[in-house]
Amino acid sequence: MWDNFIRIKEVSKRVGQDVEIHGWVYRERKTKNFAFIVVRDSSSIVQCVLDKNSFPQEKWITIKKYADIEASVFVRGKVIKQEKAPTGYEIQVSDIEIIGKSPMFPITKDLSRDFIDDVRHLWIRSRKMTSVLKVRCTVFQAIREYFLSEGFYETQSPIIQSTQCEGGSTLFEVKYFDKKMYLAQTWQLHAEAVIFALEKAFCIAPSFRAEKSKTSRHLAEYWHAEMEAAWEDFEDLQNRAEALIKHIVKKVLEKNEEDLRILGRDISKLKPVLEKPFVRMTYDKALETLKKKFDMKVPWGKDLRTIEEEKLVSLFDVPIIVTHYPKEIKAFYMKEDPNNPKVVLGFDLLAPEGNGELIGASERETDLEKLKKRLIDQGEEPEQYGFYLDTRKYGSVPHSGFGLGIERVVKWLCNLEHIKDAIAFPRTMARYYP
Ligand code: 4AD
Ligand code: MG
Repeated sequence: MWDNFIRIKEVSKRVGQDVEIHGWVYRERKTKNFAFIVVRDSSSIVQCVLDKNSFPQEKWITIKKYADIEASVFVRGKVIKQEKAPTGYEIQVSDIEIIGKSPMFPITKDLSRDFIDDVRHLWIRSRKMTSVLKVRCTVFQAIREYFLSEGFYETQSPIIQSTQCEGGSTLFEVKYFDKKMYLAQTWQLHAEAVIFALEKAFCIAPSFRAEKSKTSRHLAEYWHAEMEAAWEDFEDLQNRAEALIKHIVKKVLEKNEEDLRILGRDISKLKPVLEKPFVRMTYDKALETLKKKFDMKVPWGKDLRTIEEEKLVSLFDVPIIVTHYPKEIKAFYMKEDPNNPKVVLGFDLLAPEGNGELIGASERETDLEKLKKRLIDQGEEPEQYGFYLDTRKYGSVPHSGFGLGIERVVKWLCNLEHIKDAIAFPRTMARYYP
């Protein structure tokens, strides 16, 4: 009878006792008289040693034949301390049962990145991906905690939408009966209507961008945490973005230290993010800094490129909030700065260590005529945005909001080379299976 399983993480607390675990064979090595199998479950791994003399002959043959990589197993045995074992403990096995065989598990060492992406459904069993998925879970939870504790309501908006919000070039078209519609780039336009009911709202939902660029920061489908708040201004918004990031980092350091260690993440680099205020600088100041420190000349009015953002963040060990971008390079809804109509009250929050923009944010333009003009300037028809423009007609209020790319945050926290490893089943231009 097998009825008393413990999680492998608990093994260290049971030295000298008999325990039962269930999991999958993570590594195996068999000699004539011994089998060494490392078993993993979602919590950890443990080395199990099987001595031929402890098993009837037939059972030993089964073990040798079927205890393959990724076979699922029940194991019973005594826990001992064993310095040489990967986690410092070992189970001396008295009984084992193979539950699901795994002949020739396709993932072995030194496989190409392409192949690993093809067998993503199997690769997520790796320690790396298991750790990333745990960090990701904490990030989602921390975002909810932050907003709920600040009095925000969680709300949802349609994924199938009739207009763009972040520029037409990254829209995915959907055939919607006999009409053309689009997958959501953001919840924002609907959120700006919702705050008239709830005042403070947030969501966590997928957003879609038909990004033709193959960078290590772009997904075609990503998870987007967004907030919108009535009565809050540009300054409030910067404080919120900083508080949210700090809360996420705090929770991940509390809950996932072991996972970050498995991922080889240098945790000391995350500590300043908790302890110090974030850097805040205007776009103008950013250009000046790039010129002075790196002799990089960015013409005023051009967006910062990856290389420029990377240089800028290399100067600090905390995120940078870059504010007051030129109007032309930002979305139509960003509020014009009353002190300088050439720039907007918008910001990008850039991660340290060259991980790019984590948050895009702005106070919203409330002037109906300015909004219409910005839409027209960007080649849009204001009539298409009727419901949105109504928010400026009936009891308009100052309000602000931002969007945070969850995979960007996970990539940064886990120090991943590519954003596709921040999600179990990534969607990029080149990758849509499995
Ligand atoms: O800067 P973006 O485009 O802003 C918006 O969508 C606003 N409507 C948000 C708002 O104010 N409610 O996107 C917000 C964030 C970016 O900072 C980035 O972290 C992430 O979404 N993001 C992507 N993440 C992965 N892949 C992509 N293709 C992304 N595009 C944006
Ligand atoms: Mg942006």
